[in-house]
Amino acid sequence: MVLDNKARIRSVAVIGAGASGAAAAAALRAESYFDRIRVFERRETPGGTWIYDANPGTPLQPAPGHLAPDLDPPLRLPSALPATTNTNSQERYAQTPVYAGLTTNVPAIAMAFSDRPYPYSPFVPHWIPKQCIQDYFTYNRTDAFLSLNTTVEHVKKLPRERWELTLRRPNPERGVDEWWAKTFDALIIANGHYTVPFIPSVPGLAAYMTKYPGKVFHSKSFQSAHAYADKRVLIIGNSASGIDISTMLAKTVKSPLYQSRRSKSRWDGPEPPSGIEWKPVITSFHEVGSITFADGTVLASDDIDHVIYCTGYQPSFPWWDTKYNAPLWSYSAHRLDRSYLHTFFVDHPTLGLIGMPRTLTFRSFEYQAVALARIFAGRSHKPLPDKESMLTWQREREERCLRDHKKFHDIPWENEETLDYFRELYNIAGLPLLTGEGRHPPVLDAETRWAVENIRKYPDGGQKIDGGALSAKADEWVVVDVEHKKGILSFV
Ligand SMILES: Cc1cc2nc3c(=O)[nH]c(=O)nc-3n(C[C@H](O)[C@H](O)[C@H](O)COP(=O)(O)OP(=O)(O)OC[C@H]3O[C@@H](n4cnc5c(N)ncnc54)[C@H](O)[C@@H]3O)c2cc1C
Ligand SMILES: NC(=O)c1ccc[n+]([C@@H]2O[C@H](COP(=O)([O-])OP(=O)(O)OC[C@H]3O[C@@H](n4cnc5c(N)ncnc54)[C@H](OP(=O)(O)O)[C@@H]3O)[C@@H](O)[C@H]2O)c1
Repeated sequence: MVLDNKARIRSVAVIGAGASGAAAAAALRAESYFDRIRVFERRETPGGTWIYDANPGTPLQPAPGHLAPDLDPPLRLPSALPATTNTNSQERYAQTPVYAGLTTNVPAIAMAFSDRPYPYSPFVPHWIPKQCIQDYFTYNRTDAFLSLNTTVEHVKKLPRERWELTLRRPNPERGVDEWWAKTFDALIIANGHYTVPFIPSVPGLAAYMTKYPGKVFHSKSFQSAHAYADKRVLIIGNSASGIDISTMLAKTVKSPLYQSRRSKSRWDGPEPPSGIEWKPVITSFHEVGSITFADGTVLASDDIDHVIYCTGYQPSFPWWDTKYNAPLWSYSAHRLDRSYLHTFFVDHPTLGLIGMPRTLTFRSFEYQAVALARIFAGRSHKPLPDKESMLTWQREREERCLRDHKKFHDIPWENEETLDYFRELYNIAGLPLLTGEGRHPPVLDAETRWAVENIRKYPDGGQKIDGGALSAKADEWVVVDVEHKKGILSFV
């Protein structure tokens, strides 16, 4: 698919100033091609996930089984623009999920932007990625593109591939929200997908929450371990949040910490770590306060003070007008609709999305950003394939994922799929111009690949980390030899 020359893209909007938005802005600016680039960010600063909200306000009300369109619906738009309205009071999930003791779980060399290494490594506290994202805007002189405290509330595709954005900014001095609209030739969505919590529907859970208010919450509302000293806690989930929060809490709560697991994680050995008792999935909650598990065991009301759902997040696009633009995300298929390489869209040649695939993060965002900027500038090394081929990509990936029980946007490391994916984006982008315009897509060199395979925040369960393998235990992280590469990036 080649963009029509007559439809030259002069202006590009980016939604979000997290790591994806920072990469997008840098790549767009480097092309020295676009007349107008704007990055709209609803928070007061760039940083996205990595902004730490020390006072996040009232904990989110858990909503078992509810999907993002129910929980995070669009705001009512003013009938004409520009306009002022009362300050919005609807929950927008803009607070971040970072908690006090959170450190990164991907070695710095493989996580940071390729041209701005973290000041130290391998696993850094949460303020380092935030500082690096903020610094990235300054370093690339893209800070001038930022419109902060500005939420994109509506996106509508106009004829001839133009995008109309409806924007809202609170004006605290006047005590109102100000609304206006801007139109752009192209749009990059970089809004993140870890803001709206997911809690499964479990028989009796809703009634249990009504009877015991405040007892059940999601990991997004978890702040720090010391609040749970000597409490009896049940964690649900066995991925990064479930494991990290369990590891922290096991040191402070009344023993044992219960952890309900649906699947085994790559960190699990044959036995739970000291202080933790594993449980299978919950089958029902009861009004008397007890909780029943799939193996028939029961925890009585007195056994549990807090239930923390570490069951992940769901993407949310309340501002995307499906009526005008056709669907963007399928909640039944858990994937972008009619997309290509998790980045491009079959029906929208002037639309891109950064940050959806579960793979290396900032690095992956760079490949996506450079490829998109090059396509939008009409300078890509390779054109995108035609619509039919893009749809074939989606269909074949979906069939493969169904067969292998994988999620559509998860990109495993161990079978070289990550390298193949980055290579495809790299090849679409190609080199910058001889005269310097454009960013070079990053390399994924031997040191970086070694770090991904060998440096771990936690040792793999049951795996020996001494003897034949290298062992370097400082600050609890480890260097290991990897016999089995399975699931190396499953923690990303
Ligand atoms: C608890 C937790 C820990 C994590 N730890 C790691 C880790 O150790 N290593 C790692 O590599 N990854 C980690 N991640 C993944 C992390 O999300 C990515 O590293 C990365 O920060 C995602 O960047 P992003 O820009 O795509 O999204 P985000 O960081 O979510 O940024 C999106 C931005 O868009 C803004 N936005 C959203 N909607 C709108 C709108 N309508 N209008 C205007 N602005 C909008 C948001 O305010 C936000 O600033 C973690 C995630 C979570 C939830
Ligand atoms: N830096 C860090 O240390 C750190 C800490 C926390 C989070 N993070 C990051 O934050 C992001 C989100 O991680 P996350 O752990 O919150 O979410 P997640 O990776 O999506 O994991 C969700 C967990 O909930 C379980 N689950 C989902 N539905 C369930 C159901 N119906 N019943 C029982 N269990 C269910 C899943 O089990 P299945 O596996 O069986 O599906 C999985 O264990 C990731 O990028 C992660 O790397 C990083």
